[in-house]
Parts: sequence; structure tokens; C-alpha cells
Amino acid sequence: ARTAVVIPAAGRGVRLGPGAPKALRALNGTPMLIHAVRAMAASRAVSLVVVVAPPDGAAEAKSLLDAHALPERTDFLVVPGGETRQESVKLGLDALPPDHDIVLVHDAARPLVPVDTVDAVIEAVRDGSPAVVPALPLADTVKEVEPATVTGEPEPVVATPRRARLRSVQTPQGFDRATLIRAHETVTGDVTDDASMVEQLGLTVVVVPGHEEAFKVTRPLDLVLAEAVLARRRL
Ligand code: C5P
Repeated sequence: ARTAVVIPAAGRGVRLGPGAPKALRALNGTPMLIHAVRAMAASRAVSLVVVVAPPDGAAEAKSLLDAHALPERTDFLVVPGGETRQESVKLGLDALPPDHDIVLVHDAARPLVPVDTVDAVIEAVRDGSPAVVPALPLADTVKEVEPATVTGEPEPVVATPRRARLRSVQTPQGFDRATLIRAHETVTGDVTDDASMVEQLGLTVVVVPGHEEAFKVTRPLDLVLAEAVLARRRL
């Protein structure tokens, strides 16, 4: 069973503040995208990485990948992305050659995920789950609110789901290839992860343990944390 990874990296990264597209910003001097690609290529099971680049940054992504060596067993492709994360993933799936039956989808914005997490996701798909997500318990209590129509107005709480039953979901998410392609062909509407599309097909998605270092680099403070993690690893 050959495994391919699609890396959506076409977001602007508005919440991170002004600058280059998020995936091309540096952590300890190396673009986040390169960290993310290396994190996937660290798994011996991964033979292909498809990077979905910002439409105006595809050439730059390609030359970055050419300049940073990957293990010999790993090929890569770069394709231009779309308006939404969902569209970008679909464009990545469209570029996949036929000979991979497991597909992972991994955010470029999670550059530090350890290889053990990647391998655990692949293993669970190999063991027969059509969709697998790494996840962690929550530290914060989560409340559902009625969103304010006027910015700054207090928002009424609608519900408090039991924290012990909630999980914070990360990537890479792993899939049986045919299932993920079917999900992207049939499910429409606003989704924030790929596994939820498989849930909408009526299939069971399973959770494996995620990792603290698989956090998503979203806001400026996350850059500080990411560089501290790299310093601890002495990279
Ligand atoms: O916006 P969000 O944090 O959910 O983005 C997650 C990942 O999806 C990021 O790696 C981002 O680059 C990618 N993305 C994309 N195409 C878009 C929007 C986001 O590839 N149009």
C-alpha cells in the first residue's frame, strides 16, 4: 500500500499578520512549508508529497522544494490551489497518480508534527479504517454561542458540550483514497476538515492520539512557540 500526502498550503495566513503567504514564512530560517514536507517525508511509508501552493506562489514553492533535499524514496509535485481549503485539497487529489491507495491530508500550517503521529495515522488506515484523525483532549471548556450580529456585543451561550467527550483535531488526517475522493465529489458546503466530509457520507471516522507539537501555526504567538520547539530539538 503506497501512501501519498496532499499538503494544502495556499492560504494567505491573514491571522498571522501582514507578510508572505503563511506557508512561505520562515521558522528558524526555513519556510514552514519545507518543515511540513520534511515532517511527512520522515515517514518511510510516504512515497509522494503533493504541495498545493498559492496560485501566485507555485513557482516559488517548486524552487524551494528543489533546493531542499528530501529522502530519495519521496517524490513531490506542486499544483496551484483554490479559494478555500476544501478546493485546494480537491485540486491536490486531482493531481494524484493512480498507484497510491492511502492518502493523507496535512496542513502546511502544522510544520512540527512528529513522525510517530504520521505513522500512527497511516497504520490505522492500513488496519481498515476509511478515515483517521489525530486528536487531543481539550484544556479549555468550550461553549456554543449565538454569534453577535454587532461586533463587541456580548454573545449569549447556547450550550456547553461535555469537555471529556470533545477532542481537538489535528492533521495529518488519513484516508482510504477512494473514500476521500468520493467525499470530495459528493459533499458540498462549508467544512473545516476532510474527515467531516467522510462523516457526511455516513462512514465512521476514528481518532488516534495526536501530539502537542502538531499544533497549527495561526497567530503571531504560535510562531514564537514553533521556534521554541525547534530550539528544543536543536534544529
Ligand atoms: O485557514 P486554515 O487555518 O484552516 O488553513 C489550513 C491549511 O489550509 C493551511 O495550510 C492553508 O495554507 C491551507 N489553505 C489552502 N487554500 C486555501 C485556504 C487555506 O490550501 N484557500
